[in-house]
Amino acid sequence: MAQQKKLWGGRFAAPTASSVEAFTASIDVDARLYRHDIAGSIAHVRMLARQRIISAQEGRKIVRGLQSIQKEVERGAFPFSTADEDIHMNIEHRLIEKIGRVGEKLHTARSRNDQVALDLRLYLRDELGAILGALEGLKRELGRAARRYLDVIMPGYTHLQRAQPVLFSHHLLAYVEMLERDRERMRQCQERVDVLPLGSGALAGTTFPIDRAYVAKLLEFARISKNSIDAVSDRDFILEFLSASAVLFVHLSRLAEEMVLWSSEEFGFIELPDRYCTGSSMMPQKKNPDVPELIRGKSGRVFGHLQALLTVMKGLPLAYNRDLQEDKIPLFDTVDTVKACLGMTADLIRELKVNKERMRAAVQDGFTNATEVADYLVGRGLSFRSAHAVTGKVVRFCLDHGKRIEQLSLMELRRFSRRFEKDVFVFLTPEAAVRRRRAPGGTSAANVRRRLRELGV
Ligand code: ARG
Repeated sequence: MAQQKKLWGGRFAAPTASSVEAFTASIDVDARLYRHDIAGSIAHVRMLARQRIISAQEGRKIVRGLQSIQKEVERGAFPFSTADEDIHMNIEHRLIEKIGRVGEKLHTARSRNDQVALDLRLYLRDELGAILGALEGLKRELGRAARRYLDVIMPGYTHLQRAQPVLFSHHLLAYVEMLERDRERMRQCQERVDVLPLGSGALAGTTFPIDRAYVAKLLEFARISKNSIDAVSDRDFILEFLSASAVLFVHLSRLAEEMVLWSSEEFGFIELPDRYCTGSSMMPQKKNPDVPELIRGKSGRVFGHLQALLTVMKGLPLAYNRDLQEDKIPLFDTVDTVKACLGMTADLIRELKVNKERMRAAVQDGFTNATEVADYLVGRGLSFRSAHAVTGKVVRFCLDHGKRIEQLSLMELRRFSRRFEKDVFVFLTPEAAVRRRRAPGGTSAANVRRRLRELGV
C-alpha cells in the first residue's frame, strides 16, 4: 500500500515503518482533545490574521475549515488515521484535504509542542470545572444526609473498636471537611492550569510578530507563560491534578470502605439501595456492595497514574521529549475515574438508609460510656489518671458479670470509689455523652448544626 506523505516528511529518504507508526501513534488516546485542539487553532488563526501574518481571507477560510472538521468529528464522520499520529496531525491533514493549500498556513508560528501543551491546559481547565461541580454535589449530599439523621447516634471507632458515642452526622461531616480541602486543592490547581503556553514554538519562541495576549484573551486564559522552554516541557499542572486526585481518592476510598463495612450483616448500620448492589452468580441470598468496593478499588489506578507520570517526568532533559506523550492516559483516566466515583458516591449517600436502632445498640453494648465515668470522677476531684484506673476496674467487673456500666447499682459502683453519687447515671446515656462534647470541633448537636450552617451544605 502506498504510504501517505507525512506533513513532516521533507527530510526523510524512507517512509516510516508501519510498526513504528503504530508504536508512536497516540490518536486512539488523544482524539478526545479534538474540541480543544480546534478551539486553540481557531484562536491562533484569528491572531495570525489580525497581525497580518496571514491574510484576513486566508484566516476566514481556515477557521471555516476547522469548524466543519469539528462537525465532522461530532457526526462520527471524521476519518481518523494512525498514519497521522495524533489529533493535531489528523486535524491539520484533514484541513489541507478540505480547503487546499491555504490550510498549510495554520501551523505558522506554532509547533506541536506548544499546541499540545495548550490543548492539555484547555482540556484540564474544563474538566476541573466539572470536577469542582461534582465535589460540591457530593458535599451537598453528605450535608443533606447529616441534616436528615441529626438524631442518630453511632459508636465512633478507634482501631475499629467501639470508642465513644458520636452523632452519625458528625461522622459524615468529617468527610465534608476532607472534601472541602480537596476542593481547595483542585481550585488551586485550576489557577496554575490557567496559563497560555501557545507562542512558545518548539522550545525557543518564534520570530513571527505574534500577539500572545490576544490569544490568551480569546481563549480566556488569565496569564501567558513566561519561558518558552518551561512552557513546552513542564507537566507539573498535570502532576498537581493527579496528586490532588490521589488525596481525594484516599478520602473516597475510606468512605467507600465504611459503606461496605456498615452495610455488612455484622454491622447492619446502613442499607444500600438494591439498585446500587449486585447479586452473586452462585449464592442466591447475596446482595453485594460492588459500587463502593469499586470506588475503593479504583483508588489503585489513580495512585498508579500519579506514580506513572512522576516516573515519566523524572530526569527528562529540557525541553520537549516524546516521553511526554505518555501523560495522556494517566490524565484522561484520572479525570474519568474522579468524575465517575464522585457521582456514584453522591448517589450512594443520597439513597442509603440508616438503621438507627442497630447503631444505638452498638453504642450501648460497647462500654462507649467508660470515658464519661472517668470524666465524672474527675469532676468529683480525682486526677484523670486515677479516674481512668478506677473506671478500668469497673469495666473489668462488668465484663466478668455480663453487665453494662449503667446496669450497676450505686452500691456496686461505690465499691470502686466513694466519689460515685446517684447523679452519675445521668452522665451515662449516649445522648449525654454527645451533648456534653461542646468544645469546638466536638460532636455535640449544637456544634454539628453550626458547622452545617458554616459549610452551607
Ligand atoms: N502527540 C504528541 C504528544 O502527545 C504531540 C507533540 C509531538 N511533538 C513532537 N515533537 N513529536 O506529546
